[in-house]
Amino acid sequence: MEEKRAEWSSHISFILATVGSAVGLGNVWRFPYIMGKYGGAVFLFTYLFLIAFICIVPLCAELALGKMSRKDTVSAFSLINPKLKGFGWLCVITVVLISCFYFVVGGWILQYLWLFITNNIPENFSQYFPVFASGTVVPVILTILFLILCAVFPFRGVNKGIEKANNIMMPLLALMLVLLAIYSLTLPGAKEGLEFMFKPDFSKFDSTMVLTALGQALFTLSIGMGAILTYGSYMKKDTKILKSSYTLIGFDTTVSLLSGIMIFPIVFSFGVEPTAGPTLIFISLPEMFSQLPFAQALGALFFILILFAAVTSGISMLETAIASMIENFNLTRKKATVILSVFIALVSIPSVFSFGIMKDFLIFGKTFFDFLDFITSNILLPLNTAIICLVAGWLVKSIKKEAFGEGIISNIFYFLLKTIVPLIFIIVLVAGLI
Ligand code: PFF
Repeated sequence: MEEKRAEWSSHISFILATVGSAVGLGNVWRFPYIMGKYGGAVFLFTYLFLIAFICIVPLCAELALGKMSRKDTVSAFSLINPKLKGFGWLCVITVVLISCFYFVVGGWILQYLWLFITNNIPENFSQYFPVFASGTVVPVILTILFLILCAVFPFRGVNKGIEKANNIMMPLLALMLVLLAIYSLTLPGAKEGLEFMFKPDFSKFDSTMVLTALGQALFTLSIGMGAILTYGSYMKKDTKILKSSYTLIGFDTTVSLLSGIMIFPIVFSFGVEPTAGPTLIFISLPEMFSQLPFAQALGALFFILILFAAVTSGISMLETAIASMIENFNLTRKKATVILSVFIALVSIPSVFSFGIMKDFLIFGKTFFDFLDFITSNILLPLNTAIICLVAGWLVKSIKKEAFGEGIISNIFYFLLKTIVPLIFIIVLVAGLI
């Protein structure tokens, strides 16, 4: 029943797939608004430092665990020690929980794309968005539609589905992003936008900002949930992990920066607060688009771009769980995809309703949607990442050479993997809980 284990057909396909997983709503939606909230440039520089020297460590470790085991997340950890099987499942549960709110936003993107393509652009998005999001039927259908859009690719398999999707969508995404960023730079608010992004105001530096930057780095690189491990398991034997990881970080960060360059000049041209928060791309931006030349094309292009980013990330979330289900429940790929999709569709419903009929149903003071976001980003991601570092560092002898190569750099990263980096994520976890 088990299919032969797949392998990416080229190095480029591997890079595009991991970049596809990493580049998502985290870059185009979350990064700009978090950066806006935490003071622009200071946040950016802290983030760059953390990503290059701290998050690179678990990233390499996850890729190496995948490459060495050539297994799904659950099997990879049970191979190290059968007692770690439960931890493998915890990673899979994390990614499934993330998809149960991520796909809701995917549904909103479909709606906005439709509005712009059909030129049914509402007059006032700040009125439109809450009404739309609080609906019961349409947002549920759109969430399921988005889920199906993501699921068809892993349903078809690693090479025929996932690889093809990334090979096509990622270059197109890059092209659209560059075009939109160039357009933004011609707007009157370009200078102010760039200054906001790149001119640091060090008075904004504080510990909450550092913790947020670390959380964002994990989320955007898809670390701490087995997604990168799973994609690493399809890697060719001769792929160099440290180098590929820096390539991945380079692409991911470039996309985040370009998203900022695309968004902030528009924001400043209209005098909107850059700290608008999660609604930035669903209220403030579309409102501004409609006042710019080529509004319809601009909006459509923007939402296709975000759709591609979200779909390629959604694919990797599903694949992480599917690979583990195939291997551990002895299911075919198609059956695993269908069972998982039905499960996610059901759990996403209360997530959708968090903006409408269930907005007063609170868990620890949060709506279901916010609760999922909170336990995954603030608790499970740092917890899983700390455990992954400790397991890889202390229990897997060959990890040092496999993940970091040889020489002094390798020694430093290996030391960080075993000690400082897990400690940092434990601190993030404790802080997140407080
Ligand atoms: N890295 C994605 C983003 O920045 O939007 C989010 C993500 C993708 C999380 C894949 C988890 C995952 F498995």
